[in-house]
Amino acid sequence: MKEKYYITTPIYYPSGNLHIGHCYCTVAADAIARYKRLKGYDVMFLTGTDEHGQKIQDKAEAAGVTPQKYVDDIVVGIKQLWKDLDISNDDFIRTTEERHTKVVQKIFRKLYEQGDIYKGEYEGKYCTPCESFWTDTQLVDGKCPDCGREVKVVKEESYFFKLSKYQDRLIKFLEEHPDFIQPESRKNEMINNFIKPGLEDLCVSRTTFDWGIPVDFDPKHVVYVWLDALTNYITALGYLSDDDSKYQKYWPADLHLVGKEIVRFHTIIWPIMLMALDLPLPKQVFGHGWLVINGGQKIGKSFGNYVPPQEYIEKYSLDAVRYFLLREVAFGSDGNFTEELLVNRLNADLANNLGNLLSRTVAMIEKYFGGVVPEASYEGEYEKSLKETIKNSVADVERYMDKLEISKALESIWNIVSRANKYIDETTPWILAKDESRVEELKSVMYYLAETLRIVSVLIRPFLTRTPEKMWEQLGIATHTEWEDAKVFGLLEPETKVKKGANLFERVEFVPEEPKEEVVENQKEEITIDYLEKISLKVAKVLEAEKVDGSDKLLKLKVSLGTEERQIVAGLQKYYQPEELVGKKVVVVANLKKAKLKGIESQGMVLAAGEGDVVRALVVDDTVPEGANVN
Ligand code: ME8
Ligand code: MG
Repeated sequence: MKEKYYITTPIYYPSGNLHIGHCYCTVAADAIARYKRLKGYDVMFLTGTDEHGQKIQDKAEAAGVTPQKYVDDIVVGIKQLWKDLDISNDDFIRTTEERHTKVVQKIFRKLYEQGDIYKGEYEGKYCTPCESFWTDTQLVDGKCPDCGREVKVVKEESYFFKLSKYQDRLIKFLEEHPDFIQPESRKNEMINNFIKPGLEDLCVSRTTFDWGIPVDFDPKHVVYVWLDALTNYITALGYLSDDDSKYQKYWPADLHLVGKEIVRFHTIIWPIMLMALDLPLPKQVFGHGWLVINGGQKIGKSFGNYVPPQEYIEKYSLDAVRYFLLREVAFGSDGNFTEELLVNRLNADLANNLGNLLSRTVAMIEKYFGGVVPEASYEGEYEKSLKETIKNSVADVERYMDKLEISKALESIWNIVSRANKYIDETTPWILAKDESRVEELKSVMYYLAETLRIVSVLIRPFLTRTPEKMWEQLGIATHTEWEDAKVFGLLEPETKVKKGANLFERVEFVPEEPKEEVVENQKEEITIDYLEKISLKVAKVLEAEKVDGSDKLLKLKVSLGTEERQIVAGLQKYYQPEELVGKKVVVVANLKKAKLKGIESQGMVLAAGEGDVVRALVVDDTVPEGANVN
C-alpha cells in the first residue's frame, strides 16, 4: 500500500482578492504535493478559505452586502486563481460549509464539557486585520506587532480555552520533536518569546458581532475565528462526521505550510487543541517567509501595491511565474518580488539556459540525423562528466526536497542544464559533423543531449506544469517520464523522432515603468482665496422632489433660498427616494449659470459627497436659515 502524505496550506481570508504573496505559499505547497505524488505517495493536499470573523463582517458591511454574499464572490475568484496557477489541491474547504461548522460546534462543546473551555470576561487589545488578541507587553508602540496597525480595546463576556494547563506538555512535546517547527529559528522564537514567558488562557468566543459559528449551547457567542479556522485541517477529512475514513487515513498531517506570522497559531493553539481532544499532533509546521517589495514591505492589498497575479501569468507565462516564486527565494526567508527580478529569471534560466538547450539539441538532431535520435556507442570524458553531474544533481534534488529547500532543488536541476550547455561547447558538434571519421562521437553527443533533456523534463515536473509536455512533444517521447526514470541514464530509445517546435520561453525585454509623479487622487490645481470668493454657496431647503421623466439619474427639486424659490435638477435619483430629500437643508452652488438638463431648466447645483454606491447630499442642520451663506 502507498504511504500517505497530508499537506496543507493556510486557509485564506476572502477579505479581498489574493495577491502574489498568497500564491507563493500555495505554489510551494503544490510543488511539494506534486513531488510526493511522483515519489509514489498517496497525497492529500488541502487548501481553502477562512470565512468568518469581524474583519470579513466589517468588509461586507462596507460593501453593503451580506457576509455570505461577500465571501461567495471572492471565493469564486480564489478558486479561479488556483486553477490559473495549476494548483493540484485534492480538496478545498470553506469554513462556512456545514461539514465544517457542525464539527467545530461539536469540538467546542466537547472542550467545554470536559472543562478545558470556561466562561469569563475578556478585556484587552484586538487586531482585527490579524484577528489576533494581544497583551500590552506584546504590542509594539501600542500597535499590532504583526501588521503594525491600530488595535482596538475589547471588553466582553467570553469563553476561554485553558492554554495554561497544557503549557508544560507543549514544551515537552517541542523538545521531544525538534523537527516540529521549521525552520529552526522560528522554533526558538516560539519557545522563548511566546511559550516560556507563560501562556495565558485564550479568549475563544466573541459576542460583539455575529459572523461566525455560534456556540450551540450559548448562541450569542460565536467561536473565535482562529479556533474555527485551525480545525479545518481535520474537518476537511471528515473528523467527527458520519464518514471519517479520510481522517483515519490521512491524519496526522505531515506538513502544515504557513507564513511566518501565523506559525504562532499553528504551534501553540493548534497543538494544544489537539492535545485537549486527545488527537495525534501534526508532524511538522513549516513557517515560510514573505514576499516583499521595496526592501521589506509585505505585499498586500491594504498596502496599496496590489497587482492581480493573473497579470503576471498573462505577461510572462504560468511556468515563468511558478519558477520565479519557487526559485528566487530561499524557502523560509523573506524574498524580494519585482517584475524585473522575474524577467531576469525568465530570460536567464528559462529562455536562455533551458530553452536554448532544447532548441539547439532538436535543431542539431534534425540537421545531422534527419530528426532521428541516434544510438550512442561512444563514451568519452565529457560524457562521463555529464552523467556524473546528472547523477549527483538528481540525488541533490531529492535531498533538498526532503528538507523543503525548494529553491536549492531547482538550482540542482539547473546545474544539469548548465552542464549540458557546456557539454555542447566542449564537444563542438559542428566540428564533429565535418569529419566523417568522428560520426560515432557526434551520435553520442546528440543522444546524450536528448537524454539529458528527458531527465530534466522529469525533474521539473513538480515545479513547472506546462513545460514538461512541451519538451516531450519536441523530443518525441511518451514514456520514461516518471520520477524514478530520472535516475536511470539511457532510457531514451534511439530512433525516437524529434520535432522542432516553438521556443519553450520567449525572452522578454524588461522596460521599467516611468516613475510616476506623486499624484494624490483627484487633486486639482491650487487656487487662491479670491477664486473661491467667486463661488456663492448657500443653504437651500428642499420643498419638493420628483423623478425626471425618462431619466434614471435625475431628480427635479424645488428649493427655497429664503428670499426666492428655484428649480434645480440634481443627479441623485440613484441615491435617494425623492421624499427623503424633502425638508432637508442642502448646500447649493447658487450662482451657477442656468442650464437645461433633459430639457428641464436648472438654476444651481446641489453639492454631494461620495462615489460608487454611496453618494449623499451635503446636509446642514435645521438651525441654519434658508439662504445662509456657506463660507
Ligand atoms: O492568516 N508573502 O489568512 P491570510 C508570503 N486565515 N506569504 C504571504 C504574503 C506575502 N506577501 N501575504 C500573505 C490567514 N501571505 C488565516 C490563516 S490557517 C488555519 C488560517 C500568507 O489570508 C500568510 O503568511 O491573511 C499566510 O500564511 C497566508 O498567506 C494566508 O494569509
Ligand atoms: Mg494575514
